[in-house]
Amino acid sequence: MRFRSDRVNRKKGIKTILTRAKLVSLIRRRPLPPGDMNIRLDEIEAADRLSIIRKSTEDGPIFKGHAWDAFWIYVVGLPRCREIMRQHEADLQPVTIDTTPLFAEGLLRQMEGEVHRKYRSQLGLALKSTDFSGAFVALAHDTRKLLAGLVTQFGRTPIPFEALYLCFSNLVFDGLTRFVFGIDPQSEHGRKLCAAYQELGGNGLVWAPGLRQKKALSSIAEILRNASVEESNQCKNSLMRKMQAQGPIDDVMMGNLIYMVEMGRYDTTAFLRWLCWFAAMNSDWTDRIADENDGGPVAEAFVMEALRLEQSERLVRRVKRDFVVDGYLFPKGAMLRFCIWESHKLPDAHDRPFDFDPGRFLEDMPGPELYSPFGTDKHQCPFAAFSVNFGATFVKAMANDYQVSSHGSHTSVRGLYHWEPDKSFSPILSSRISGISP
Ligand code: HEM
Repeated sequence: MRFRSDRVNRKKGIKTILTRAKLVSLIRRRPLPPGDMNIRLDEIEAADRLSIIRKSTEDGPIFKGHAWDAFWIYVVGLPRCREIMRQHEADLQPVTIDTTPLFAEGLLRQMEGEVHRKYRSQLGLALKSTDFSGAFVALAHDTRKLLAGLVTQFGRTPIPFEALYLCFSNLVFDGLTRFVFGIDPQSEHGRKLCAAYQELGGNGLVWAPGLRQKKALSSIAEILRNASVEESNQCKNSLMRKMQAQGPIDDVMMGNLIYMVEMGRYDTTAFLRWLCWFAAMNSDWTDRIADENDGGPVAEAFVMEALRLEQSERLVRRVKRDFVVDGYLFPKGAMLRFCIWESHKLPDAHDRPFDFDPGRFLEDMPGPELYSPFGTDKHQCPFAAFSVNFGATFVKAMANDYQVSSHGSHTSVRGLYHWEPDKSFSPILSSRISGISP
């Protein structure tokens, strides 16, 4: 995992940042957070996922360490994370993939101040006025078709990682193409779009985009322009259509829309694997989902509980200016990790925090001090409700037709960007309709 500002941090040198931090700490008489700089936080976490929670009980909820060749401060506990974000918004710089070599201003996630407000409100307005219901019906249909295809291919034998990943990735890409651009994935424009996106990433998000991504971006923009000229190729209820209704889409917003699909496809594909993993281990809940009507609360609760336990892991910022929290100096140049995964596992946030229990979202919706898988500040995910709906549509379609069991390991491993189910995890789909054997 590499962060842009982490590169800044490494370039300047962890030593330079630390030396300055110690000096400021002496002058201002404010200690740096506790923690041993000889301990590699990234390594101890990869070896034992609970190590960060343990450290937060030993050292306190704010501690420092060495990770990814940079100086990091970790914060555990949502109320504290939210408070720091709120009070020190101007002192923190969001950290994400740097797309400014491709288009001005970069991604919404890295924008600040007025520029962020402008593009965020354009996106918010378009999202509010888009009716995604037709596209969700298409997603449910595609999910059932895709799973039926897997069952035809594998019968009652475990579905291996590669086949599952490819199918989920196609499902998500087709879905996002429809939702964001309003383009039918089976149309000529849809097929062209798919090929052009292969050039943009293909095997995963490219963290340092270069010439190849620049070319791919302009091909995608060209395909989208052509599709929007031919009215019949674009459904009226797409995000892009609603955006065009506000006025011409500039290069910055176009780049952002293109990257929403690019980043959204990897993250959502990974999330569908988690949903499948939870389904395999919690048949009592998938039976309940199968029994409820479309749009019932259990499928959504299942997705929200999956997000409490997995996928949403951290928020990352870089300290732009020195500031003090709980008596500790947060020095300029330090990387800051708000530990969301760990915060969701604290016993004072959730009863039996490691148990999978969607029931906690059926009784009462926990407030943002207890549950924040989509972020905590002005950069919160604008697609939060959309993503829950996406996951619930998928789970419902799967649970309606199949009971899910699995073969292989039930452990999680750290992938390139996120923790994920071990590659050996392979679901087995058994048709619910008696007499129909796959
Ligand atoms: C399970 C699915 C998802 C999760 C858990 C998730 C989580 C998040 C989180 C935690 C943030 C805040 C990052 C920060 O504060 O640094 C965020 C921001 C964002 N997400 Fe998502 N997201 C998901 C799906 C999506 C999808 C499908 C899209 C688009 C198609 C999307 C688009 C965005 C955008 C554009 C932002 C930046 C907003 C801003 O900076 O104003 N997300 N997401």
